[in-house]
Amino acid sequence: MTLKSLTYTSLARLDLTADDLEAIHRTARDVNALEGVTGLLIFNGTHFLQIIEGSPAAIDGLVERLRQDRRHSGLEVRDEREVSERSFPDWSMELVRVSASFFEAKETVSDRLPETISDPVRDRVIRMTEAISGTVSF
Ligand SMILES: Cc1cc2nc3c(=O)[nH]c(=O)nc-3n(C[C@H](O)[C@H](O)[C@H](O)COP(=O)(O)O)c2cc1C
Repeated sequence: MTLKSLTYTSLARLDLTADDLEAIHRTARDVNALEGVTGLLIFNGTHFLQIIEGSPAAIDGLVERLRQDRRHSGLEVRDEREVSERSFPDWSMELVRVSASFFEAKETVSDRLPETISDPVRDRVIRMTEAISGTVSF
């Protein structure tokens, strides 16, 4: 089966509440479990970074829904590729809340990533975490 992995960043709605975040996470886990989508959602208080992986149809459908979702804006696809295996096979959607400071965020993310993850994927997650931290322009 062909698998697709897509990484995007977006800007959370300014008045997003903790309840909104919980609701997003709950929907993501429930729907993804049904659709065979797995991945990681990082939130640093202002921005989202999400990696989603699954069948091309499931990923394309999800991105369409994400683009319509008013709880965030400015969705930018940062990476999209065919992969031979999942990087997050056990996570229907893992939410990782991180500090706005890149140095703290990097530590939190590094601690939470699965040990089995490949170096290129680990590097991409860290690089993208830096991008949403605002320490580099993007
Ligand atoms: C940052 C963010 C991440 C999301 N992640 C997912 C996800 O992984 N899977 C999912 O089904 N919905 C996710 N959603 C919710 C979708 O945008 C959408 O509301 C949901 O899939 C239900 O779609 P529907 O209202 O068209 O039925 C996310 C929303 C936001 C704002």
